[in-house]
Amino acid sequence: MSDHGVEPDGLGAGTASVRELLGPGLPAVERFAEALTQEGVLRGLVGPREVPRLWERHILNSAAVAPFLPSAGTVVDLGSGAGLPGVVLACLRPDLDFVLVEPMLRRTTWLDEVVDGIGLENVTVRRARAEELVGELLVEAVTARAVAPLDRLAGWALPLCRVGGSLLALKGGRAQEELDAARPALASLGGDAGEVLTASTVPEVESTAVVRVTKVADSAVASSGARETRTRSGAGSSGRRRRR
Ligand SMILES: C[S@@+](CC[C@H](N)C(=O)[O-])C[C@H]1O[C@@H](n2cnc3c(N)ncnc32)[C@H](O)[C@@H]1O
Repeated sequence: MSDHGVEPDGLGAGTASVRELLGPGLPAVERFAEALTQEGVLRGLVGPREVPRLWERHILNSAAVAPFLPSAGTVVDLGSGAGLPGVVLACLRPDLDFVLVEPMLRRTTWLDEVVDGIGLENVTVRRARAEELVGELLVEAVTARAVAPLDRLAGWALPLCRVGGSLLALKGGRAQEELDAARPALASLGGDAGEVLTASTVPEVESTAVVRVTKVADSAVASSGARETRTRSGAGSSGRRRRR
C-alpha cells in the first residue's frame, strides 16, 4: 500500500476521482480503510480476499448512499458489522448524528475502537438488535447493507423511522426484484411503494442500487411510544455518545 492507501492494482485515497468524491471526509475515511486493512481480517471482520478490493467493493459502495441522506437529523445504520456503510457515511456527513446498531459484541468493540481512533464525534455505537430499539429510536433515516432481505429489513427499519423518514438499503443487482417481493409488507409497515435509486460514486466503479422506502404513515408497531431521537441534545439512545 502506498502513502495514500492506494492498493497496487486498484483504487484508493490517492486516486483523483476518489479524492474528489470524498472531499473533506477523505482523511477520516482513509483512516477507517487503513484500520480495516490492518486489522479487519485478523478480527474476522472482512475476508482476506476483500482487502485488495476494500475501496472498490466496500468503502466506495458505502459512500454511494451519501447523496440520499437527509439534510439534518439522526441516521441509524442497522447491522453495521465492520462499520459499513455507517462509519464511512459518518465521516462524510459530520453534520448528521449516526447510531451504529450491531448485536455482536466483537463487532461493537471494533466499532467503538475505530470511532475513537478516527475521532468521530457524531457517532454512537449501540449493541442491540434492531427489534429491541422500537419505541426508543425515531429517526430521519435508516441505512443498511447486506443485513436481511428487504421485507424483513423494512420490518426492522420502518418502525425506527419517523413519518417522512426513509429506509436506504444498499441492494445491488436484485434490488427491483426484492422491492417487488417486499411491496405487500411495506404498506402494512406504513411505508410507500419504495423506489430503486441508481447510486454512483466514481467513474471507475459500476453504479449500485439503493432501495429507498419512505415512511408515510404510522403503523401500529411504529407508534408504540417511540420518541424522536436527538443524540446531540441528549435524548434517545443510551449507548456511547460521542458529542459532548
Ligand atoms: C453480513 S453482515 C453485514 C455487515 C455490514 N453492514 C457490511 O455491509 O459489511 C450483517 C450484520 O447484521 C447484523 N445483524 C443481524 N441481525 C440483526 C438485527 N436484528 N439487528 C441489527 N443487526 C443485525 C449482524 O450481526 C451482522 O453484523
